Amino acid sequence: MSDRQAVDKLITAPFTGTPVMETVSSLHGLRTIIERWKRSGYSIALVPTMGNLHDGHISLLNHARDCADRTVMSIFVNPIQFGKGEDYERYPSTLADDKNKLEKYGLDLLFTPNLDQLYPGGTDIDTRINVPGLSDILCGEARPNHFSGVATVVAKLLSNVQPDFAFFGEKDYQQVLVIKRMARDLCLPFEIIGLPIVREPDGLAMSSRNAYLSPDERRRAPEIYKTLKAAAESLRQGNKSMDEIETEALGRLQEAGLRPEYVSIRRTEDLQRPAPEDTRLSILAAAWLGSARLIDNLKVRVKPT
Ligand code: PAJ
Repeated sequence: MSDRQAVDKLITAPFTGTPVMETVSSLHGLRTIIERWKRSGYSIALVPTMGNLHDGHISLLNHARDCADRTVMSIFVNPIQFGKGEDYERYPSTLADDKNKLEKYGLDLLFTPNLDQLYPGGTDIDTRINVPGLSDILCGEARPNHFSGVATVVAKLLSNVQPDFAFFGEKDYQQVLVIKRMARDLCLPFEIIGLPIVREPDGLAMSSRNAYLSPDERRRAPEIYKTLKAAAESLRQGNKSMDEIETEALGRLQEAGLRPEYVSIRRTEDLQRPAPEDTRLSILAAAWLGSARLIDNLKVRVKPT
């Protein structure tokens, strides 16, 4: 079906009744549908993704559907958020399966732009959104342009969809904060909502990148979550220094055969180093296992010291 036919079909669909999901790839098609929905007074939720959907993505979609009359998901593997030598070329693409899932879960509109739509001037662009301070710590240290790539593409999606709400997962907690700060600093009138991490039964945070793990690596991967839980328990007990807890956690990950990039205890609010009076903390970790870079985090409430 062409974008044109998809637009015609979708804008005439009844508000209730059998859900119809349509897919558009052009900004023009997207904007036409959004415009009609706005004129009909529908509220709109956006869930940006890179596809290869799992239950973490679906939980965002379910919340979005609860909040808004119409839900849009984007699937776009955004080249400018990948560094040289990272996994852009091999990022898993499962569009047919993704569409089946989305039909089942009642998405209204799937936006699958190609590169030319979102990067009309090519991907080697100088116009980018930077969120200094939050973008250059933790994951941003090892991936210097990553968060400006994320902020830039999310700004494009937000400004074209004009959603009332946009949903992001706290699996990528730093990403949620970067996007919230961008929205605040640019006075964007969209509510950015972060939702809890969805995990596998053994505690591993769901991620498209888990597909890179061999069976043996997959067995060892839950060690990240176990390590975070142990660190949270140490923090709660309050009888070790934060440095000690971080060092212990790094050692534990190394012993399990992972190559940790960092384990860091931060203030949940802004990811800065905690002051003694801070009580809402997060422990964040990034570690390599084989060719997969895995990230995870855990919030913990402590007593002020
Ligand atoms: P992607 O990795 O596909 O994730 C899309 C959304 O799903 C993000 O908000 C992410 O945090 C959320 N998500 C992933 N795994 C999750 C889990 N286990 N539990 C809860 N939420 C989870 O993140 C991106 O894509 C991109 O950076 C994007 C925001 C789309 C910009 O390109």
